[in-house]
Amino acid sequence: MDKSDKYKPIGLFDSGVGGLTVYKELKTLLPNEDYIYFGDTLNMPYGEKSEEQLTEIARKIFDFFASQQVKAVVMACNTTSAICYDKLKDDYDFKIYPVIQSVSKILSARDVKRIGVFATPATVNSHAYSKYILGKEVFEVGCPEWVKIVENNEINTPESINKIKNRIDEMMKFNPERIVLGCTHYPYLADVIGKFYPEQNLINPAKYFAQYIKDDLSESGLLGANDGGYEDIFVSAEPVKFMLSSERFYPISKLPKLLKL
Ligand code: DGL
Repeated sequence: MDKSDKYKPIGLFDSGVGGLTVYKELKTLLPNEDYIYFGDTLNMPYGEKSEEQLTEIARKIFDFFASQQVKAVVMACNTTSAICYDKLKDDYDFKIYPVIQSVSKILSARDVKRIGVFATPATVNSHAYSKYILGKEVFEVGCPEWVKIVENNEINTPESINKIKNRIDEMMKFNPERIVLGCTHYPYLADVIGKFYPEQNLINPAKYFAQYIKDDLSESGLLGANDGGYEDIFVSAEPVKFMLSSERFYPISKLPKLLKL
C-alpha cells in the first residue's frame, strides 16, 4: 500500500444488518471516507454454517472488495472473524480488520474478572473470545435464534423476548460482571436484554473497533480525506427487508443494490 491508497474506499461486510452497528460508529469517527457495505442476506445466518461454507463465502466477498480496489476490509462480523480471518489474511493486499481480534486487547484491559459473551453458535464453538481475551474468566453462550429476530424485525414480540430471556438465564449461572455483545446483530437487542440484565454492563465492541481502525489507518498514513465521502450499500437478497430492519440502528435513505456473488 502506498500513500495514494488513502483515497480508496473502505469495504465492510456482515451477513445482514448487524454490521451496520459497526458502520455507524466508523462513519461517525471517519466521515471523510468512502464506504462500500455488503450485507450477505442470502447466506444469513452465518452462525449456523460450517467452516468450509463460511470460508468460501468470505473469499467471494474479499474477491469482490478486491475488484472494488478498497484500501481496507472491515470484518463487521464476529463469526467470519473467528472462523475465516486466519485463512484469508495473507491472500489480499488491502488491510483486513477482524472485529474479535481487534477489540480483545481492549477487553483484556477492562478492570473486571468475569466476562460473559453472547455470540453465534459458530463463534462460541470456535472459542475465539476465550482465546483472545487474556487474564479473565470468559463465559460464552450461543444464541442461535437472535440474528433472525433482528433480521426479521421481530424484536419486541413475546416469543422473541422469551427466547432472549432464556439465553440470559443461561448466562446468569456464571454471574458475569460485564457481557460482550459478541455478534454485531446483538446491539439491536440491547433494550430487550436490558429488561433482564443491567444495560450499562453490556459491552458493544463497535465503538472500540471503530477507534482501533481509525488509529491503525492513521498510523499507516491511510486516513481518507474525501470531502463528505460516498456510500454504496449492497445486499445479496431482500433489499426492502434489509432497509426496514436497519431502521433501528442505521436508517438508510436509498434501497440497497442487489449483488449476488
Ligand atoms: N453478525 C454476524 C456476527 O457478528 C453474523 C451473524 C449470523 O449471520 O449468524 O457474527
